Amino acid sequence: MGGYADVYSAWKADPEGFWMEAAKAVDWVKPPTRALDDSNAPLYAWFTDAECNTCWNAVDRHVEAGRGDQAAIIYDSPASGGVKSKITFAELKDKTARLAGALASKGVAKGDRVLIYMPMVPEALVAMLACARIGAVHSVVFGGFAPHELSVRIDAAEPKAIIAASCGIEPGRVIPYKPLVDEAISVSKHKPDFTVILQREQAQASLQDGRDYDWHALQDAAEPADCVPVGGGDPLYILYTSGTTGAPKGVVRSNGGHMVALLWTMRAIYNMNPGEVFWAASDVGWVVGHSYICYGPLLHGCTTVVYEGKPVGTPDPGAFWRMIEEYDIKALFTAPTAFRAIKREDPAGEYVGKYDLSGLRALYLAGERADPDTIEWAQKKVGVPVIDHWWQTETGYAIAANPLGIEELPVKLGSPTVPMPGYDVHILDENGHEVGPGELGAIAIKLPLPPGTLATLWNADDRYKSSYLTTFPGYYETGDAGMKDEDGYVYIMARTDDVINVAGHRLSTGGMEEVLASHPDVAECAVIGVADQLKGQLPLGFLCLNAGCDRPNEDVVKECVKLVREQIGAVAAFKLAVVVDRLPKTRSGKILRGVMVKIADGSEWKMPATIDDPAILDEISDALQGLGYAKG
Ligand code: COA
Ligand code: AMP
Repeated sequence: MGGYADVYSAWKADPEGFWMEAAKAVDWVKPPTRALDDSNAPLYAWFTDAECNTCWNAVDRHVEAGRGDQAAIIYDSPASGGVKSKITFAELKDKTARLAGALASKGVAKGDRVLIYMPMVPEALVAMLACARIGAVHSVVFGGFAPHELSVRIDAAEPKAIIAASCGIEPGRVIPYKPLVDEAISVSKHKPDFTVILQREQAQASLQDGRDYDWHALQDAAEPADCVPVGGGDPLYILYTSGTTGAPKGVVRSNGGHMVALLWTMRAIYNMNPGEVFWAASDVGWVVGHSYICYGPLLHGCTTVVYEGKPVGTPDPGAFWRMIEEYDIKALFTAPTAFRAIKREDPAGEYVGKYDLSGLRALYLAGERADPDTIEWAQKKVGVPVIDHWWQTETGYAIAANPLGIEELPVKLGSPTVPMPGYDVHILDENGHEVGPGELGAIAIKLPLPPGTLATLWNADDRYKSSYLTTFPGYYETGDAGMKDEDGYVYIMARTDDVINVAGHRLSTGGMEEVLASHPDVAECAVIGVADQLKGQLPLGFLCLNAGCDRPNEDVVKECVKLVREQIGAVAAFKLAVVVDRLPKTRSGKILRGVMVKIADGSEWKMPATIDDPAILDEISDALQGLGYAKG
């Protein structure tokens, strides 16, 4: 392959040739004759004249090739008291085929949606693969979301079935999922035909006759289903992610391009060989879980790891190192927040020294900005390359990375390194003009986006266009701001919208504002993301109460915190709120959230020329100081 520069130029000179070559790694039912389909531009599609099956490529073909006895999934669950197990590729094929058969026997067919609401258990992957096997489109919802969020996704995806577990386990508490599913179904307009429930011993779910089916009873009784050929451009899954409003965006991923791209990344970025163990310490509910707990490693014939635990406290900050030694893990991928948590509890790295990490080749970080302190700590303590890479739910894999499988480029702290083939990254000013090296701007990617990235938003082509393709015609707008340096290294500095990143979880402050505004005493509100040493950012709410409201502020704050937890979920980590008289606004009425963030974080800020009443900022500053912020 040549070095990075050669590979990137080869792609740029002949993208079609590049992706057709990469497509050879897939076992197609009908091979593609071309890669890009621009017949519906600016909605681009890939490998549309091919036929394939993702489950076949992730499971069956490895069994055929002699990997049947190799572990496909390692399950390690400190959360459930130390349960450990392995599922071989042959077993995974059997389990998947049977669950697929069960779904098919209940009427789920190609193109139907299936919603999956599962904790970190291997069955979550079995459920995803079973859908892929019969051409059904899965939509996994993160277990930390509340029934309201679940119901929004049920109405948006209109699933024929819901697959769930009876419970999830968080440190110190079991969370029964079934009542959450029941509540979500009861408030959603769309009703699924049936549910499949995996009973876990920590909480037995009560099943409603004729609607809820026990996972094992259904699976054991079913005839195994074969892989159904689907079009390369047919959807594999929908994954909802936070947008600017409370209505989540349904990112649509297609079968063909997704396989081609992920297979390319497993070698070029993660430097993995089939047969080795790859661990993404994330959750199946996030894109990292889709791409690198489920599909990427399995497509590549690697063993993947399903870890139901935390980086610290389950039982100690040595948890990740124990895993690496015990399973001979070659590459670990997680969010910087996990390392910040470990570093906080074990700054000297004493736990690192207790384990044999000689098999580990590299650490990968993504999901939020990787602060240089954390990277340096990991470099020093673990002694392997620490690779920051930048991507989004929308893209499904790295836009910028250090491609260790091609060439290890010099690391520049604060930069996720360079654009990957397929991504022509530009930094644009607000008029869409390219800015020079070192200058800040909006980060945009020249269309078409490469294979494996979002095809559109589910049932919302217009929203896809208006959200991503309109600001800079001919480009995809990433929503991130940053710069490139003289060497072409990319730096990601901030979001240009109201998305915040809390412990590597993407959340919409707009969505939280919608919830707060529904409180009967709240007249107006604003939510901002303030800097947090552990989680990167935390949401903080400002509440203006209705005239005449004489209830104690603390009561309203408490109710608002509870409301966000009930409506969005614990994962929103919304615990900070304060009552203020007024919000700072421009003369045209726009709330000055950016200035409030700077005041809260104690960074430098300028009085906006357009501000309506500068005195309000003093009140905001006082309120923030009361919460321990605005100390700069
Ligand atoms: N189901 C139900 N609740 C969940 C949940 C799930 N799957 N995941 C998290 N929660 C809850 C937590 O228990 C917590 O509840 P609490 O307010 O009662 O304490 C809340 O949601 C916030 O969770 P989180 O922000 O994750 O904080 P934490 O204190 O539990 O853990 C870290 C902090 C840093 C250890 C943790 O965020 C972590 O391991 N992050 C790794 C990064 C990661 O997985 N990123 C995903 C993208 S790569
Ligand atoms: P998600 O869709 O949840 O993966 O979140 C995507 C967003 O997280 C990006 O648009 C960035 O704002 C942020 N992000 C992801 N990776 C990085 C990174 N390596 N450096 C900085 N920000 C990142």
